[in-house]
Amino acid sequence: MTSRVALVTGGTRGIGHAIAVALRDQGCRVAAVYHGNDEAAQAFHAQTGIDVFRWDVGDCTACADGVARVTRALGPVDVLVNNAGIVRDAPLHKMTAEQWHAVIATNLDSMFAMCRPLIEGMRERRFGRIVNIGSINGQKGQYGQANYAAAKAGVVGFTKALALEGARYGITVNCVAPGYCETEMVTGVREDVLKAIIASIPVGRLGTPQDVARMVAFLVRDDADFITGATFSLNGGQYLV
Ligand code: CAA
Repeated sequence: MTSRVALVTGGTRGIGHAIAVALRDQGCRVAAVYHGNDEAAQAFHAQTGIDVFRWDVGDCTACADGVARVTRALGPVDVLVNNAGIVRDAPLHKMTAEQWHAVIATNLDSMFAMCRPLIEGMRERRFGRIVNIGSINGQKGQYGQANYAAAKAGVVGFTKALALEGARYGITVNCVAPGYCETEMVTGVREDVLKAIIASIPVGRLGTPQDVARMVAFLVRDDADFITGATFSLNGGQYLV
């Protein structure tokens, strides 16, 4: 397979870390984007050798600048994995406007902010692989996550629309919707709530970041060119779409 340049947002921790490593192992030159945690990013770089770049994926100007930096360092981006995501859980009657806007910015505005500076080059080169990370909770809803569920459901619509626009240009756009996985985001859920969640997963365990990474690595292959506009659920049977 040609050596592709891949950009993974939220790529230094959790599911993004596993995706970045899987794409590197598949022969891609990888850029991992992070926003807040410098220490984790440096540890990731030391451990994997993968280049890290810092910017806010919810900010259009920062994304355009960041994409230009990655392009200068590694070459034009062929593969984009929109993985960065945050939670600010609260039932709506307690949710603040800040909690709402923060989640919409990072989890949904980022789809536009990251794809917009990359899509024209992908069209010109007639090749692109975009994988957007959704969530089981965008599919089924979740108590305490009106912001997150709205953003993740939005990711599915965005994926379908962009898939139609890219289809004639060799650009595939898919969504991978993980269930509850072993990451800091999930282990941060209140203990009693998490226990109930695990009990409701038919395969009897949380997912792993590698479970998700294997699917993403498959979807970005050159020969996965007939797969587009789809949403793949990886949730241990917890929610059957
Ligand atoms: N359905 C119906 N009612 C529920 C409920 C549910 N799932 N969960 C809680 N309630 C009820 C409670 O029974 C309680 O009712 P009473 O007062 O009548 O007893 C009331 O709602 C208040 O519940 P809490 O005490 O939980 O409310 P809180 O304000 O203290 O906490 C919360 C709210 C922080 C959102 C908490 O419910 C919570 O952590 N929920 C889990 C949210 C979750 O799953 N987040 C996933 C994060 S990981 C992720 O998002 C990754 C991914 O993609 C999968």
